[in-house]
This record gives sequence, C-alpha cells and structure tokens, in this order.
Amino acid sequence: MPNVIGVSSREDFADQLPKEQIGVEVGVWHGDHAQVLLEQARPVTLYLVDPWKVNDDITNRTSTMETTQQELDRVFDSVVHRFRDFPAVTILRMTSVEAAERLSLVHWVYIDAIHTYESVKADIAAWRDLIIDEGMICGHDDWVPGIRQAVKEHLQEYPDDRLEVVGAYSWAIRCRDVQAFR
Ligand SMILES: C[S@@+](CC[C@H](N)C(=O)[O-])C[C@H]1O[C@@H](n2cnc3c(N)ncnc32)[C@H](O)[C@@H]1O
Repeated sequence: MPNVIGVSSREDFADQLPKEQIGVEVGVWHGDHAQVLLEQARPVTLYLVDPWKVNDDITNRTSTMETTQQELDRVFDSVVHRFRDFPAVTILRMTSVEAAERLSLVHWVYIDAIHTYESVKADIAAWRDLIIDEGMICGHDDWVPGIRQAVKEHLQEYPDDRLEVVGAYSWAIRCRDVQAFR
C-alpha cells in the first residue's frame, strides 16, 4: 500500500494523530487505551464515549469480561476516578451514535466499540461527517473481517479519504472534506 505509514505499537499509532486537537475514543472500557491517546496525542479535549451497559450484542472476543451491570458500574466509577485530574477529558456515558448526535466538529475519532460489521459501519457513518477536513477516523482490530469490510466500503464511498496509518491492530483514514471546497 503506497504512502501508508506502518506502526508497531499503539503508542506509535497514537503519535500519528493530530496533536493538541479535539479527539474522541468510542469504546473505553477501563481507559487503558484512552490513557495512551492522552499521553501521545495530548488532545485539548478528549471525549470518552461508552455506555458501560450490559448489552447482549457484545459477543465478540474483544468485548468486556464483565457480565453484570453492577460490575460495569464499577468499571465506569474507576474510569471517572482514573481521569479525574485530566481537565481535557469529558466522559460521555452513552452509545457511539448518541454521542455523535450530541457533538459537533472533532479532529479525530478512534472506534473500538462493538466489532460487528453492522456496528462499525454505523459508527463510521455516525462520525464521518463530524470530522473536520484533514482530520482522521480510526479504529481497532482491523483483522476482524466485518471491520475490514466496513473500512473497505468506506474508502469506496469516500474516494477522497485515504488509508494513512496501519499497524498495532489499528487503522486510520485521513478525511478530505471535498464539500468544503465546492
Ligand atoms: C474492546 S472494549 C474497549 C477497549 C478500550 N478501547 C481499550 O483498548 O482500552 C469495547 C467497549 O465498547 C463499549 N461499547 C459497547 N457498545 C458501545 C456503543 N454502542 N458505543 C460505544 N461504546 C460501546 C463497551 O462497553 C466496552 O467498554
């Protein structure tokens, strides 16, 4: 793949994101990756979006291990505690689509929620129009067939968007808002 940057760790991946901008992580769980995003991309605002809600749809192997709402409530509390001294962080306890409806423009979004084709397709669709020109839409687990398919279809539907970074099981697409120039 010409002009695609390869990275070998999630730190290196996060380092490719626009710095000191507005970012979103969709699917936070305990906040381990959110911590990496904070440290490497140093966003001025980082929205952490996750319903922390028991959901029968979460059946893939990268899903949470907690099985009761009580356990997920405890995870949520731990995330609130973990990021309490980071003024850049805003926690949105809601689904990806609900958060996308609530927010306006952002510079990048990292999608790591439900890993089915339908969910990732819906997440990409929900966030794509919120990404400013030259911003990035990214996500985890590019080896999952449904995710690969959703990403591939996005690149076909938005021919000006370019796959720019791969590696560390992640993918990142640079978004070009051709509408802005019409
Ligand atoms: C694989 S975990 C995220 C792991 C995290 N990104 C990390 O690497 O540290 C998936 C998360 O997606 C969340 N989730 C499930 N449905 C969601 C939805 N509709 N919108 C946003 N997050 C969702 C789950 O609650 C779970 O915490």
